[in-house]
Amino acid sequence: MLTNKVAFITGAAQGIGRQIAVDMAREGAKVIIGDILPKAGETVEFIKQKGGEAAFIPLDITKFDDVQNAVKQIMDSYGKLDILVPNASIVAHNNLLDISPEEWSRVIAINLTGTFYTLKAVLPHMVAQGAGKIIIISSGSAATGSGGGAHYAASKAGQNALVRNLARDFGPKGITANAIAPRVIQTEMLDALYPQGSPARESVINRIPVRRVGLPEDISELCVFLASDKASYINGQIILVDGGRTYAS
Ligand SMILES: NC(=O)c1ccc[n+]([C@@H]2O[C@H](COP(=O)([O-])OP(=O)(O)OC[C@H]3O[C@@H](n4cnc5c(N)ncnc54)[C@H](O)[C@@H]3O)[C@@H](O)[C@H]2O)c1
Repeated sequence: MLTNKVAFITGAAQGIGRQIAVDMAREGAKVIIGDILPKAGETVEFIKQKGGEAAFIPLDITKFDDVQNAVKQIMDSYGKLDILVPNASIVAHNNLLDISPEEWSRVIAINLTGTFYTLKAVLPHMVAQGAGKIIIISSGSAATGSGGGAHYAASKAGQNALVRNLARDFGPKGITANAIAPRVIQTEMLDALYPQGSPARESVINRIPVRRVGLPEDISELCVFLASDKASYINGQIILVDGGRTYAS
C-alpha cells in the first residue's frame, strides 16, 4: 500500500510509533524514525531483518533545529517526504492543582509544540511536491479530559485543532491531514498510567465494550490506510480507536 513512499515518524523507539514504523515498512515505505531514545536503532534493525528499509535520526522534538536538521537529512537522502506521523508524546498524569508550571510547559512543549515543529519543518517540502499525508497520533483524552491529566488533554485537543487547520489550509495543495485518537493501547505509556494487574487497569478494561486493551496494531493498521492513496478523500478527521469505550456510557 505504500511502495516507495518516504515516511517520517516521530517517537518510534517503542509503543504505537514502533508498530507504525514496522507496518509502514512492511507495506513498502522507506521509514525514518526521529526519537530521543537510542533504542530506536532496535526498531530499525528489526525492520531491516524483515527486509524493509529504515533509518534512525536522533532528535528531541522540543528543539526546532533538531527537527529541521532531520528533515534536511531526509530530503538530502531520499529527495522527497510523502508521509509525516507526529507520534512522539509524553504523559504525566496529575490533577490540575498538582501540575507545576514546569510540568505544564514540558507536556505542552513535547506534545503540542513538538508537533508544530515537525509540521513547520516538513510542510514546505510537501507543498513543493504538491502531495503529502499527515497523520497525527492524538488521544481520546482531547474529547474526555481524562487519561493523562489536564495538560495532556489540552495538548491533544491542540493537536486536533492543528488537524482541522491543516485540512482547510493544505487540502488545496494536495495534502491531507487526519488524527487517530487512541484510548488504552498496550504500550510503556499505558503501563505507567495503569500498571499491569492493578485494580485501576481492571476497572478500565471493564469500561471498554470489547473487554480488552487495544494493541499497537489496532492503531498502526489504520495509520497505514490513512497514509495510502486509498484514503485520499479522508481529510480533517479525528478517528477514535477505543474499543467503543467513549460513547458506551
Ligand atoms: N498508549 C495509549 O494508551 C495511548 C492512548 C492515547 C493516545 N496515545 C498516544 O499515542 C502516541 C504514542 O504513545 P505510546 O503509548 O506508544 O507512548 P510511549 O511512551 O510508549 O512512546 C512515546 C515515544 O515518544 C518518544 N519521545 C518522547 N519525548 C520525545 C522527544 N522530546 N523527542 C523525541 N521523541 C520523544 C519516546 O522516546 C517514545 O519512543 C502518543 O502520542 C500518545 O499520546 C497513546
